[in-house]
Amino acid sequence: MNNRFVIENVSHLTYGTFFKLRKYKMDKIGMFWGSNTGNQEEAAEFLKEFMDSEGVEMDEYNIADTDPSKMLEYKRLIIGCPTWHIGELQDDWDFIYRKYKELDFSGITAAFFGCGDQVGYSDNFLDAIGLLGKPFIENGGTLIGRWPTEEYDYDNSLAEDGEEFLGLGLDNDNEEELTEERLIIWAELIKDEFGI
Ligand SMILES: Cc1cc2nc3c(=O)[nH]c(=O)nc-3n(C[C@H](O)[C@H](O)[C@H](O)COP(=O)(O)O)c2cc1C
Repeated sequence: MNNRFVIENVSHLTYGTFFKLRKYKMDKIGMFWGSNTGNQEEAAEFLKEFMDSEGVEMDEYNIADTDPSKMLEYKRLIIGCPTWHIGELQDDWDFIYRKYKELDFSGITAAFFGCGDQVGYSDNFLDAIGLLGKPFIENGGTLIGRWPTEEYDYDNSLAEDGEEFLGLGLDNDNEEELTEERLIIWAELIKDEFGI
């Protein structure tokens, strides 16, 4: 065996392994969430556990300590953000929002979910889903995981698009008992739409 043979085969193996690893990572879901008082975090943990139990692999990141460009390492995203301060993003999302809006999401599919309060903030229910979902679409992304507005009672929402929200709405302030069930149904829906 001469040296050239060894080098060619080693480099071939490394090359193949590199692409396999890269593809593996691209096929995984990257979930990015932010939370001020823990509701969105809890929902994200529940969703991850459910997906794990279904054999769906996910990496998860708290946006408080993650650069938004990390999202571009995934072809499939789940983005979780509660609405705060009357129609605003959760604080950590707000901090990186300008950078987020500059990302090129071409070739990426994402599902959005968010906590809100339809009674206390009926005029801005789930606005954060709209604030993140719309620039995602404008910047070339494919949005999945729309959710019917039907079973909620609110006046206005930036997340609304016809009879649907641009993502799953959770309301732990008024309907905590529905959260896990909604998450499971939505998880099944997005698995289908992701083509997993
Ligand atoms: C000061 C304040 C402002 C809020 N503003 C909104 C709002 O505009 N729209 C909405 O749907 N929910 C609003 N909420 C409700 C939160 O989104 C809800 O409590 C959520 O579960 C918080 O998520 P977190 O615990 O992950 O931070 C607000 C809550 C507080 C305390």
